[in-house]
Amino acid sequence: MAGRLRHFLQFADFDHIELAWVFERSRIIKDRFKRYQPYQPLADRTLAMVFEKASTRTRVSFEAGMYQLGGSVIHITTGDSQLGRAEPIEDTARVISRMVDIVMIRTYEQAKLERFAAHSRVPVINGLTNEYHPCQILADIFTFIEHRGPIAGRTVAWIGDANNMAYTWLQAAQRLGFRLHVSTPPGYALDASLAQAGEHLQFFSDPMEAARSADLVTTDVWTSMGYEAENEARAKAFADWQVDAEMMQAAKRDAVFMHCLPAHRGEEVTSQVIDGSQSVVWDEAENRLHVQKALMEYLVLEKNVG
Ligand code: CP
Ligand code: NVA
Repeated sequence: MAGRLRHFLQFADFDHIELAWVFERSRIIKDRFKRYQPYQPLADRTLAMVFEKASTRTRVSFEAGMYQLGGSVIHITTGDSQLGRAEPIEDTARVISRMVDIVMIRTYEQAKLERFAAHSRVPVINGLTNEYHPCQILADIFTFIEHRGPIAGRTVAWIGDANNMAYTWLQAAQRLGFRLHVSTPPGYALDASLAQAGEHLQFFSDPMEAARSADLVTTDVWTSMGYEAENEARAKAFADWQVDAEMMQAAKRDAVFMHCLPAHRGEEVTSQVIDGSQSVVWDEAENRLHVQKALMEYLVLEKNVG
């Protein structure tokens, strides 16, 4: 809807038409970038990035991406801003959004991100919360499309923790019409009420069965940021949820492997798989740059682009 302030707080915020637009713009923007053609539709625009958790990829891809689009970037963290001294998130949102054109936030609770967005005058992007990581799944699906074509009708196997990545994959499956096989260890299951996701979601107690006939096998760390106190218990519980060569063999012959990174070789994935021929993790990481440029372009300019 023209003129309505849009945010990207979770994957389901965009319908399939908007997602198709972002993927197509990502392709065009990536192609220009690879041919060293400057493309600066966001000249004079400013992105504020707020990090309450650590990051390598998200910071570099948003920061490089905004500069490449002609804009500039401000990076703040909890420790070096008044957020760390308990300034309310609502006040922070009111102030920052009077000074910049778009905001990206990485924080803990999704509710905090939503409170920020509710008091923001400019678009807000989720750069990861405990609940969701929608920019990563944009990059993952764009990577799948590049390597294997449309994802509709395909099968994605999620092996491991029911974390922010898993919940975002589920939203994507519902939006884009693919099947999600999920296998999590006992005690670490997805919210049972999600059984209503119906045809798009199937649970497997055996991770090998989840991987069977999958077009894409993907996993993530056993312990996400913010849950470090559970590290030891998780290492025991997740021991059989490692993606190894045998699991990749259960998948389709041309299946690809993805991991949002950072990875722990020898825990959730073997070196043989992540460094092997089916792994597309470096394209996946690079594509954060391209999809987020398309995302920022869409949120700031809507479809007024060249
Ligand atoms: N995948 C991802 O978001 O990586 P960072 O934590 O390094 O940003
Ligand atoms: N699930 C991980 C993803 C890191 C990019 C975490 O939240 O720490």
